Amino acid sequence: MKVVIVGGGVMGTAIACELAQSKLDVTVLERSIPGAEASTAAAGMLAPQLEAQAPGPMLELSMRSRGLYPSWAKTLAAESGVDVAYLESGALQLGYSDAHAHELEATVAWQQAAGLRASLLTGAEVRALEPNAAPEIEAAAHFPDDHQVDPKKLMQALSLAAAKRGVTFKTGYVRGLLQTSGKVDGVDLDGEALKADLTIVAAGSWSSLIPGAAIDPKHLKPARGQMVELVLRLPPVKHILKAGLGYVVPRADGHVICGTTVELAGYDKRVTAEGLSTVLAQATRACPMLKDATVEHFWAGLRPWTEDALPMLGPGSQPGLLIASGHYRNGILLAPITAKLVGQLVRGERTSIDLAPFRPQRFG
Ligand code: GLY
Repeated sequence: MKVVIVGGGVMGTAIACELAQSKLDVTVLERSIPGAEASTAAAGMLAPQLEAQAPGPMLELSMRSRGLYPSWAKTLAAESGVDVAYLESGALQLGYSDAHAHELEATVAWQQAAGLRASLLTGAEVRALEPNAAPEIEAAAHFPDDHQVDPKKLMQALSLAAAKRGVTFKTGYVRGLLQTSGKVDGVDLDGEALKADLTIVAAGSWSSLIPGAAIDPKHLKPARGQMVELVLRLPPVKHILKAGLGYVVPRADGHVICGTTVELAGYDKRVTAEGLSTVLAQATRACPMLKDATVEHFWAGLRPWTEDALPMLGPGSQPGLLIASGHYRNGILLAPITAKLVGQLVRGERTSIDLAPFRPQRFG
């Protein structure tokens, strides 16, 4: 069976790795190099508890994916020779006022009731755990099971592992999907017909621009996230720190990834003065020591936003088509579970999670 995957980001490449294991003939199509867009723009937080607003299908999907990471990271490192820097850092959601502290208390309560590990810390307890965290912190929710990975290393490892498993990578521009008698049977790649028994669209924010994929740009749009990488001689904190949209992700080597903004600004990847100052203000508020850090790099990525913030995962509008896109703020986190679920769909197995909430056609 021949499978063509449109998009060589973390989703497309992870799916390719999974399908190649089932001895399928898999080709990944990418305009640029694997992971050139949102996948390597990400901070790499594996933090469903830090992101979750309430229990529900997204939390379940995210928790299942987080659970797959330790063994996935090991397998990828063993196959590729690249350590993906999976780091069990834990995470703290910070509150700077009494009102924030009450919100955090409620978050901790519903997460504990859902059976997750979470606790509420006082400001003094936060500073005992992280002496370089801001003195103005009133309280924090502690999520000891939310961790991180380095997305650039992950993409290297994934693409090497995929190539070793026999996946073909092709560079080119997909002009549209091929259709015969109401069925998708491949893609038009720069004018060449590339026939396939199954076509998988995993092109992130660009998925809604592919003619024939039937993804309405109203329902899937790019959401820009501006990011800054700082560096200090030693990591200033051990935990991921987050407050509102602002976060600080400390790598083991003193590099610190800071985010972010969420802007529906079209396909515009500029870093703006306002975006940069917002990201730096959030980061230095959480960890004032970062004021003296060196700015190493700044960039922006385009996350695939969906109207209900859930991924589009499952059969497309016609036979022969699967969609795995719209992972919005959680692409790195959701890659292993997405690959696993797509593998189950392709092999005709019952999926280990109900995909109904994620139906690509749910928007009508
Ligand atoms: N999950 C982090 C972000 O989207 O910026």
